[in-house]
Amino acid sequence: MAIAPPPSGPSAEDEAMILEVVRDLVRERVAPRAADIDDKGEFARDIYKLFAENDLLGVPFPAEYGGVGGSFLTYVKVVEEVSKACASSGLMIAVQELGALAIIIAGSDEQKRRYLPKISSGEYIAAYALSEAGSGSDAAGSMRTRAEKKGDTYVLNGNKVWITQGSVADVITVFAVTDPDKGPNGISAFVVEKTFPGFKVGKLEKKMGIRGSPTCELIFENCEVPAANMLGPEGTGFKTAMKVLDKSRPGIAAQALGIAQGALDYAANYARERMAFGKPIGQQQGIQFMLADMRVEVEASRLLLYEAARKCDESSPDLTLWAALAKLKAGDTAMKVTTDAVQILGGFGYSTEYPVERMMRDAKITQIYEGTQQIQRLVIARSLVGKGAGSNGSAKN
Ligand code: CAA
Repeated sequence: MAIAPPPSGPSAEDEAMILEVVRDLVRERVAPRAADIDDKGEFARDIYKLFAENDLLGVPFPAEYGGVGGSFLTYVKVVEEVSKACASSGLMIAVQELGALAIIIAGSDEQKRRYLPKISSGEYIAAYALSEAGSGSDAAGSMRTRAEKKGDTYVLNGNKVWITQGSVADVITVFAVTDPDKGPNGISAFVVEKTFPGFKVGKLEKKMGIRGSPTCELIFENCEVPAANMLGPEGTGFKTAMKVLDKSRPGIAAQALGIAQGALDYAANYARERMAFGKPIGQQQGIQFMLADMRVEVEASRLLLYEAARKCDESSPDLTLWAALAKLKAGDTAMKVTTDAVQILGGFGYSTEYPVERMMRDAKITQIYEGTQQIQRLVIARSLVGKGAGSNGSAKN
C-alpha cells in the first residue's frame, strides 16, 4: 500500500536532501560557469535546464499544482546556496517564484492548474511586471499602464520597465489600471502570455551586475488579454502585488545573503594564504577585524532571513515587516561584505580574474530591486508609527 505524503509537505530530512543535491550541482555545474555567464551577459539556458531537471524551480509551489510542496525556508536556502557561486543563477529560481506568486495567491483553481505545473517544471519561464519608467517606488500612485474591458477581453496599453527575465519569459504577471479614479484599488492583475497579440519585448538594459539575468522593457500595444486571465476580482491587483512582494523579498534577501557568504568564504581563504610582512594577512589584526565584522553581518542577515521565511510558511500577519527587515539587512550586508572582500584581496580583488569584483557588482542590485532599501525602511517605520499622510494622500494607521 502506498504511503500518502504528509500534508505538511517535505520533512527536515527532505530539506537536507534537497540542499545536498543543490550543493553538489553548485560545486560541479554552476560555480564553473559563473564568470562566463557574467562575461557573456546571457541568460544561461543550460543552468535553467539543470534547475528544471532537478525540480528546483518550484520548491515552494503547492504539490497539487505540480510543485515540490516544500517550505519557504527550504526555498530561500536553495536560492542562498546557488547565489554563493552565481547571483544570476540564484535569481532564476527567485524570479520563477516571483512570477508565479500572484497566481498562487490570487489565482482561481483553473488558473493554477493552467499555469503552475508548467512554471514549476520549467516549461514556462515566468516574470513579474509592476514597475514603469515613472512608477518604481510609488508603484500605485504613478502607474500608467491601462487595461480596458472590451467584451471578454481586457485591452492593455502601456510600457513596463526593469522586468527581470522579461525578454525570455513565456508568462508574465502584469499589473494595470482598470479604474483610474480608484487609486490603488483601481489596479488589476493579469497573466499575459508572450504569444498574446500586442505584446512586445522592448529595450534590453546593459547592467552593472546580475548580467546573466536579462532585464528589459515590455510593450503593450492594444494587447488582448482574455478576461479569464485576470487574477482575483477587478481592483484587487495592487494588494496582490504587495502580497507577492511580501513573499518574494525574502528570495532577494536570500540572493543577497548568498552573495555575501560567497564573498566572505573567498576572502577568508585568501587571507589564510596571502603573505605580507612575513605572515598570512589573516594573522594581521586589521584583516581579522574586517573578517569578524563581515561574519557578524552575514549571520545576522541569515537569522533575519530564516525568521522571515518561517513567517512566510505560517502566513504570519507581520510578514510584511519581516520581509522588509530581512531584505534591508541582507542587501546592505551583501554590499558591505563584498566591498570589504575586494579590499582584502587588494589589487587582485579589483581584477575580473577573481570572483569578488563580480560579487560586488551583483550585490548592488539587492539594495535596489523588489523595493529599494528606502522603501524597506518606510515599511519598517510604518509598523512602528503607522502610515500617516502617505503617497496617495490618505491618512491612516
Ligand atoms: N499586503 C496587503 N495589502 C497591502 C500591503 C501588503 N503588504 N501593502 C499595502 N496594502 C494595501 C493597503 O492596505 C491599502 O489598502 P486600502 O486602500 O484598502 O487601505 C492599499 O494596499 C494601498 O496601500 P498604501 O496606501 O500603503 O500604498 P502606498 O501608495 O503608500 O505604497 C508602498 C506602499 C509600500 C510604498 C508600495 O508602493 C511599495 O512597496 N513600493 C515599492 C514597489 C516595489 O517593491 N517594486 C519592486 C518591483 S518588482 C522587482 O523589482 C522585481 C525584480 O526585478 C526581481
